[in-house]
Amino acid sequence: MKVLVIGSGGREHAIAYKLNQSPQVDQIYAIPGNPGIAQIGTCVDGSVEDNDMIVSFVKEHQIDLTVIGPEVPLCNGLADDLEAAGFLAFGPTRHAATLEGSKAFSKDFMIRHHIPTARYVEVTDYQDAVNQIDHFDFPLVIKADGLAAGKGVVIVDNKDDAIKTLKEMMVDGALDGAGSKVVLEEFLTGFECSLLCFTDGKTIVPMVSAKDHKQIFDGNKGPNTGGMGTVSPNPFMPDNMDEVLKETVLDPFMKGLKEDHMDYRGVVFIGLMIENGQAKVLEFNVRFGDPETQSILLRLDSDLYEIMVACAKRELDQVEVKWSNNHVACLVLASGGYPGKYEKGIEISHVEDVADDIVVFHAGTALKDGKLVTNGGRVLNICAKGQSLKEALDKVYQAANIIDFDGKYYRKDIGLR
Ligand code: AMP
Ligand code: GLY
Repeated sequence: MKVLVIGSGGREHAIAYKLNQSPQVDQIYAIPGNPGIAQIGTCVDGSVEDNDMIVSFVKEHQIDLTVIGPEVPLCNGLADDLEAAGFLAFGPTRHAATLEGSKAFSKDFMIRHHIPTARYVEVTDYQDAVNQIDHFDFPLVIKADGLAAGKGVVIVDNKDDAIKTLKEMMVDGALDGAGSKVVLEEFLTGFECSLLCFTDGKTIVPMVSAKDHKQIFDGNKGPNTGGMGTVSPNPFMPDNMDEVLKETVLDPFMKGLKEDHMDYRGVVFIGLMIENGQAKVLEFNVRFGDPETQSILLRLDSDLYEIMVACAKRELDQVEVKWSNNHVACLVLASGGYPGKYEKGIEISHVEDVADDIVVFHAGTALKDGKLVTNGGRVLNICAKGQSLKEALDKVYQAANIIDFDGKYYRKDIGLR
């Protein structure tokens, strides 16, 4: 079978790596892919936003399954276009992808389908938004409605900062229009947990838990990033949450998809805040998380290709999804300066010198004159399995010492309390 992976990050490398382990997969293509994926498949130049080019490629190469990694092509209707051309896609339709593409749409979905979430208002007028501030306590959460590559959520502690943020988003157009509509939301306390699930729109199968570390600095300080490291299982996840999550979140979510006629075949990533044994939904993402996926997929014992095809064919109830009991850690090596300005094109050394049981996924790398160089804020994802969390962490931190590039930065407290 031939598969095409859309995207170029560590998440897509991890997906390609697992697909490559399937006895059914003969050939992996990626658009555009990265140098890590190029070691196991064929990378093809092209934009993830060019639906016509991607559909033509799929036709020409008779691709059996296209796996769409990032949210932007999902929100652009790539799954719809592939389906219309008669090809299988793993990823929700444009309509369903709006659960990530619009915070206001997503909150409305949660309220209508009785999924617990923070109290909110949706506003499109700046003055109206300023007036609404008084209806909330501080801290207050301000969310740009549209896709903003992880920069769309700001938590403010006072009215001046709230007004400043609203002005930046709504008047100054700081987020390229993503903030012309905003959601003001009550601040929730508790601990955060990402729950990723496979679904074909009829059946939903939760994956093992994972914990992301979003802020750039140790101790959860500094600005948010795309994610600086993950561990799976999530050490903070209380026991006995499965039933509560099924009843209060997953069942109403599936009922909501059905009632709203949403064709959802792919991964739903549910951002949760958990307190006193109760969960509230912070957000839905319509794709695998990055870097959650890197830890989670290393624990998958079943054939990823089989699961993805089952989702795409609405036969998820026909496959078994099995996980290993071990612990996995994933550490992001980032470029100095990220998530602010950083340099690209810096040579990376010693990737080959890490221990045999380390898996290194490429996130932001490129080849320049035959040499591996940095090409993004998040550069490499170092992953390892262990019988315990400590064993997995020891392995990744050892490898983080070996791999080198100027400005290399990583958090020292992944997986710790
Ligand atoms: P989102 O993109 O909606 O997940 O928001 C990004 C991050 O902002 C989340 O991972 C949380 O850390 C934080 N956040 C979002 N909404 C809330 C909320 N209502 N209360 C507290 N923190 C929040
Ligand atoms: N790691 C968070 C995300 O993928 O959105």
